[in-house]
Amino acid sequence: MKGVILAGGTGSRLSPLTKVTNKHLLPVYNKPMIYYPLLTLKQAGIRDIMIVSGKGHVGSFLELLGSGKEFGVNLKYDIQERAGGIADALSLVEDFVAGEDVVVILGDNIFQDDISEYIANFAGKKNGACIALKEVENPRSYGVAAIEDGKLIEIIEKPSAPKSNLAVTGLYMYDNHVFDVVKTLKPSQRGELEITDVNNHYIKQGTMDHFIVSGFWGDCGESFDSLLYTAEMVKTLSIGQQRTQSKLTKKCDTKTSSLPVR
Ligand code: G1P
Repeated sequence: MKGVILAGGTGSRLSPLTKVTNKHLLPVYNKPMIYYPLLTLKQAGIRDIMIVSGKGHVGSFLELLGSGKEFGVNLKYDIQERAGGIADALSLVEDFVAGEDVVVILGDNIFQDDISEYIANFAGKKNGACIALKEVENPRSYGVAAIEDGKLIEIIEKPSAPKSNLAVTGLYMYDNHVFDVVKTLKPSQRGELEITDVNNHYIKQGTMDHFIVSGFWGDCGESFDSLLYTAEMVKTLSIGQQRTQSKLTKKCDTKTSSLPVR
């Protein structure tokens, strides 16, 4: 399975921090933000990883991370010409993924969990996709899962009236069919190709699995407060420092699981 870290976008919600610096290079406690998703993939045994960023910033990632040797991974870099959304960035890596499955992680998402088990479960499937959900206090800021009778029926992007408090985190696993799905997408109202549309395609097709993230999850790009809070949690929980993290549950029943609010 190949890995992709998406590190593009304008980071407008963190301006002026992001006026000059790419969001994913901002400090989160004692490391640049992108180190955390990189370590998460590495810990899960993903060795071949593509980092996608805008043309003004891809050189900074190369300078910071190089070939990946220091981290024990093989890094490649690709350029997203314009901030066209997560699904647009994904469309760039089809050749790199070369017929395999792919795990995609957003460069501003920090997970406490060891995701190895998620990956192993997904690798055992023949086809489809899998997303990771997390209970949050502010679902309006995210893609939100609509669940009926324990079944994921739809994802609604940043709803004004959320149907649950289960956010869709920025960790996605797809079979190679995902690149055909992306080709069918139309830009959303914000002019982007939305990953939520990709995920809803798999839900409609009946091949989408989901997990509940058991440990801490932070989306650093959501607000100044989420950036600060995530940094505090990284320090408190030693995330990315010694990675002996909480055990993951397998596929969860979202109705019965009781989870800490992030
Ligand atoms: C993106 C996705 C959203 C998801 C979030 C997680 O939002 O569109 O569904 O919940 O990442 O970090 P964005 O950060 O691009 O607004």
